Amino acid sequence: MEVLVPKFQSLKFPSPICCCSITTWNSSYLNFGFRRLSSLSVSAASKVNEAVVESVIASPSLGHSTRPHFPILHQEVNGSKLVYLDNAATSQKPTAVLKALQNYYEAYNSNVHRGIHFLSAKATDEYESARRKVATFINASDSREIIFTRNATEAINLVAYSWGLSNLKSGDEIIVTVAEHHSAIVPWQLVAQKVGAVLKFVTLNQDEVPDLDNLKEVLSRKTKLVVVHHVSNVLASVLPIREITQWAHDVGAKVLVDACQSVPHMIVDVQNLNVDFLVASSHKMCGPTGIGFLYGKIDILSSMPPFLGGGEMISDVYLDHSTYAEPPSRFEAGTPAIGEAIGLGAAIDYLSGIGMQTIHDYEVELGRYLYERLLSIPNIRIYGPAPSEEVQRAALCSFNVENVHPTDLATFLDQQLSDQVTIVLNRSIAT
Ligand SMILES: Cc1ncc(COP(=O)(O)O)c(C=O)c1O
Repeated sequence: MEVLVPKFQSLKFPSPICCCSITTWNSSYLNFGFRRLSSLSVSAASKVNEAVVESVIASPSLGHSTRPHFPILHQEVNGSKLVYLDNAATSQKPTAVLKALQNYYEAYNSNVHRGIHFLSAKATDEYESARRKVATFINASDSREIIFTRNATEAINLVAYSWGLSNLKSGDEIIVTVAEHHSAIVPWQLVAQKVGAVLKFVTLNQDEVPDLDNLKEVLSRKTKLVVVHHVSNVLASVLPIREITQWAHDVGAKVLVDACQSVPHMIVDVQNLNVDFLVASSHKMCGPTGIGFLYGKIDILSSMPPFLGGGEMISDVYLDHSTYAEPPSRFEAGTPAIGEAIGLGAAIDYLSGIGMQTIHDYEVELGRYLYERLLSIPNIRIYGPAPSEEVQRAALCSFNVENVHPTDLATFLDQQLSDQVTIVLNRSIAT
């Protein structure tokens, strides 16, 4: 359970915010007057209809069938089965991923692309196999389009410093929505300051989703890049990336999609979406921390200069200059996170084994259930669009209980969850 506070001033909330499992906002932006928990008389358990709980327990679900795969959940906390509601911040790891990591270190730990011996050949094969798995998972046309990075943040910085510094100039515009994660805003602020480019922000509409009419209004021939999330970690909204890409390409702009909250939860097809860049983090998709990836169209990657220097990113090194390897090596300086990449490959096998459509269908059901159950709590304010036939909501929820500070509520729920609430919230958002 994380406390949610908005990361950027464009999104202002009138009172404290709590989030079930969704994500982390930086509390420094919230400056509300609030009552402490001592004056709170909220009993979430009393809100739970026992019949609902019974039916939840009775019906076998994807959550129930996958729970045994996650060793960390096989423990009790505060006398209750552990419920983990923070999957948007980072997901737990199934045994298959833990075993892949252990097997790498036990059986073939070695550096990649720089040894002739058996272990190095095996490590290199497995590392490159993980790259192919990522490519297949997001339907990239070529595994050279996948660059391993430390996380999504580093992937965005790679694009900002490599593509951005060599393609943006004074007066160029970068369009970003106010609902982006700060990892998708700050790198562009830094690069815009260096080159004199201008950041333009797309506002939210009355349904609390980025206003696509506003996006179309701000797009112009000055636009060189559009940075958008696929699924918002704050609002749970899902953006129509294919259309956005079309509009951006019509004015000659490139599109970078932050897919941190979509790649783990739905089928993402980069060729169908026709995006130029897309980033995601392994640790949000049942894989290890310390590894993420950048997808980039191969012709764009091939035209980009290196981001960091040294290691396998070179072709030849002279004393006065160097020549660079082709992508993806050009962007993978130094020894990469080998075991972690292999673990990410195992996570992709795990998710693919269940099936991304199956996961998505289940989460649509969970998301609707979560939204409806939270809505029945008095004085709650849920952020983002209401789910409907037309509006998709991801299975996450940012909310705010009037006059209760999110830290208080999160602490209370973390320490005092009754079994009933545990079961219902688990059904709502975990797995
Ligand atoms: C939508 C979104 N983008 C980017 C990030 C940053 O991911 P990482 O910290 O793994 O780089 C997050 C993490 O919460 C996220 O939810």
